Parts: sequence; C-alpha cells; structure tokens
Amino acid sequence: MLLLGAGPHAALADSIADKVEVCTRCHGQVGKPTDKSIPVIWGQQAGYIYIQLRDFKRGDRKNEIMQRIASGFEKDDMLAIAQYFSQKPWPDLGQPRSPKDVAERALSAEHSVGCTGCHLDHFQGDSTVPRLAGQSHEYLTKTMNDFRTRARGNNPGMTDLMLATPPDDITALAQYLAGL
Ligand code: HEC
Ligand code: HEC
Repeated sequence: MLLLGAGPHAALADSIADKVEVCTRCHGQVGKPTDKSIPVIWGQQAGYIYIQLRDFKRGDRKNEIMQRIASGFEKDDMLAIAQYFSQKPWPDLGQPRSPKDVAERALSAEHSVGCTGCHLDHFQGDSTVPRLAGQSHEYLTKTMNDFRTRARGNNPGMTDLMLATPPDDITALAQYLAGL
C-alpha cells in the first residue's frame, strides 16, 4: 500500500526536478541569480510565482525568455514549480543597507502610498503579493519602472501606484528594499 502510494509521488518529484533544472542557469544554483538584473525566486511567495508564470505564458507579462519557458508548462506544472521554489530559503545577496537619507525618503514614499498594506510590515509578502525585502536592487528598479511605463502591464493597480510615485522615490525605494 505504502509502496503503491509512493510511486506517483516519486514520479511527480522527478518531473519537477527535471523542469526546474533549466531555471538554475539564470536564477542560480542556490538561489542567487547569475546576473544582477535577474530576480530572486527562491523563497518567493508561491501564489505570486504561479501568477507570474501564468502571465508570462499568456503574454500578459512580456519577457521573451520567460514567455518561451512558461509556454511549455501547464497549470499543474506551474503550481508545482511555484510550491517548489517557495519552499527554498531566500538567499542573502549581500546588498548594503541603504544610507539614512535614502531610507527616510523611501519610508516617506511608503507612508504616502501604504506599500506595507499589501506587501506586509517586513515587505515579506504573502500569497499572491510578492516579497520585496532583499530582492535584487537592479531588478527592483527595472520592474518598478516597467510598471510605470506599462512595459510590465500585468497588474494595472501596481502601474497606477508607480505612476503616482515620483522617479526619485522609486530610486530610493529600490535601494531601501534591496538592503532589507
Ligand atoms: C535565460 C535566463 C532565465 C531562465 C533560464 C529562467 N528565467 Fe525566470 N526570469 C529571467 C529574467 C531575466 C526575469 C525578469 C523578467 C523581467 O524583467 O520582467 C525572470 C523572471 C522570472 C519570474 C518573475 C519573478 C518576479 O519577481 O516577478 C519568475 C517567477 C521566474 N522567472 C521563474 C522561472 C522559472 C520557474 C524558471 C525555470 C523553469 C526560469 N524562471 C528560468 C530569466 C530566466
Ligand atoms: C493594493 C496592494 C498593493 C500596494 C499598496 C502596493 N503593492 Fe506592490 N504589488 C502588489 C501586487 C498584488 C503585486 C504583484 C503584481 C503581479 O502579480 O504582477 C505587486 C508587485 C510589486 C513589485 C514587483 C515585485 C517583483 O518581484 O517583480 C514591486 C517591486 C512592488 N510591488 C513594489 C511596491 C511598492 C514600492 C509599493 C509602495 C510604493 C507597493 N508595491 C504598493 C500589491 C500592492
């Protein structure tokens, strides 16, 4: 009985290990991306990872590489891959804490928008809301500006918030969040 039960689970585990092999090339062997502009996905919220893979596949979030990769996955694969990465430990990218003036600017932008209302007190995220704390500095800058210009168009709510946030505040927020 036990052995019979183990079969399909072992097979599923194998196929997930095969499917995530390719990810390490960019998102890193131990969760540290190979390039500073590539986001951390180890320890990211499962619901959020799933939605991004779905949006890349649909073309709602545009990125040639990720679209090509996600197009090969069905919903069940995406859910399993999201679970897999969410259970890994978040890597320490060793990014410096932001200086006091930058932190003050970021926190004042945070207070006026209320980022932590959704991203939570330590910017750890939950469910479909992503963790931002300790995310790659370059990537945070890029993706917030992508929301602003609608190059990233998969969440109109975040676009509206970024349009209401002055560019200098976005710069400060990226530096502050990366250093958390
Ligand atoms: C050739 C490099 C490359 C490979 C291989 C790759 N990715 Fe990515 N991935 C990227 C880049 C670059 C981005 C950022 C895209 C952007 O700026 O919008 C990204 C973004 C993502 C995001 C969104 C993260 C966020 O914070 O919004 C997820 C989730 C993701 N990748 C998952 C995966 C998974 C799962 C695999 C393997 C099945 C994989 N990626 C393979 C380069 C890659
Ligand atoms: C009303 C809720 C809400 C508020 C307020 C909010 N966010 Fe978000 N944010 C989200 C959601 C949901 C997503 C995921 C969007 C998606 O699925 O692509 C997101 C995505 C992001 C991302 C992309 C992360 C990644 O890995 O690609 C960044 C960066 C971000 N938010 C920064 C901020 C900042 C900075 C503030 C405050 C100035 C803020 N958000 C306020 C809900 C919110």
